[in-house]
Amino acid sequence: MLPKTYQKLVAVRSSDNLREAVEVQEVTLTPPQAGELLVKTRFSGVNAADYLMAAGRYLAPTPPPYDMGAESVGVVAAVGEGVTDYREGDAVFAIGGGYREYFTLPANRAIRVPAANAEAVTVGVSGLTASLALEKVGEMTSNETVLVTAAAGGTGNFAVQLAKLAGNHVIGTCGSADKVDFLKSLGCDRPINYKAESLRDVLKQEYPKGLDIVFESVGGEQYDLALKHLAVRGRLIVIGAISEYASGPQPVTRVRDSYLLLNKSASVRGFWLMHFFRYAQEHASRLLGLLAEGKLVAAVDPQPFKGVAGAIDAIEYMYSGANVGKVVVAFE
Ligand SMILES: NC(=O)c1ccc[n+]([C@@H]2O[C@H](COP(=O)([O-])OP(=O)(O)OC[C@H]3O[C@@H](n4cnc5c(N)ncnc54)[C@H](OP(=O)(O)O)[C@@H]3O)[C@@H](O)[C@H]2O)c1
Repeated sequence: MLPKTYQKLVAVRSSDNLREAVEVQEVTLTPPQAGELLVKTRFSGVNAADYLMAAGRYLAPTPPPYDMGAESVGVVAAVGEGVTDYREGDAVFAIGGGYREYFTLPANRAIRVPAANAEAVTVGVSGLTASLALEKVGEMTSNETVLVTAAAGGTGNFAVQLAKLAGNHVIGTCGSADKVDFLKSLGCDRPINYKAESLRDVLKQEYPKGLDIVFESVGGEQYDLALKHLAVRGRLIVIGAISEYASGPQPVTRVRDSYLLLNKSASVRGFWLMHFFRYAQEHASRLLGLLAEGKLVAAVDPQPFKGVAGAIDAIEYMYSGANVGKVVVAFE
């Protein structure tokens, strides 16, 4: 029996203060339209973009009000007319389902998962970003040197694992000794706690031939150093710049990037998941297969967060830099 109402997190105004930007709302639950699924959320994934969205500074800014959150796994609670591929009780993942107890989506946008658990949500925005960016933009092969920044986070840890699986030497930056241990457990060849040792010195002394691929999520000094240390034909993939999200983009004064790139035939390439969505089903199936075979680990941060209001705490927790693996919010 479906409830009459449900709760969701809504951005009602743009503010750098997350708690001022969002509110929990109770809204009417409507049945799915033709071709749609109504899904009861089990877990939502927390993403660095959540904060930017609330601040009104995301890549695709939308005037408030809008629903917060980017991805969820859940169980089909009802199917709309004409839906034959799914039935009640099926476990699905959706990009678009967010911090809400129920969500609807077109059935052809759902990704089937073996179970609606926390591990399944890691494959979504995080797993797909790592997989698609390394393959489609980084042109990853094997026997190359790959630097992953924010390597112990939800997205970075998948990039580390996939780069290792492909047969590369992987360097990963992170901000604590616990994260160094976590990265070692994933097979990362050279974890660097940037709070305890100098990334500048490590790159200069240990990697004189430079970096073939950089999966760069932090921005600021880590971006600058990675750019400077690109190898001949190196590819720096811009995934994000989390260290600059709260402050806004940092202006820099130095020679233009072209001077750092031309003499190495190197390149800086942007990646935004939504531009690669047509490959999502294929890559999600591949990642789920690797998880089932035990070749990939779905790393879920152990800190528990619950329900729509818990999502606010979860976003703040991620921005404290404490998380190891993917931050998730549990529902029910
Ligand atoms: N382009 C895309 O389509 C796409 C998709 C998904 C994610 N992303 C980007 O990928 C990056 C990681 O996102 P995520 O959601 O997976 O988060 P996450 O990596 O699970 O968590 C964020 C991590 O960033 C690191 N960090 C470094 N400097 C920071 C600072 N000044 N403030 C806060 N955290 C800092 C922290 O770890 P350490 O201190 O250990 O480094 C923190 O744990 C973000 O830049 C995000 O925007 C982009």
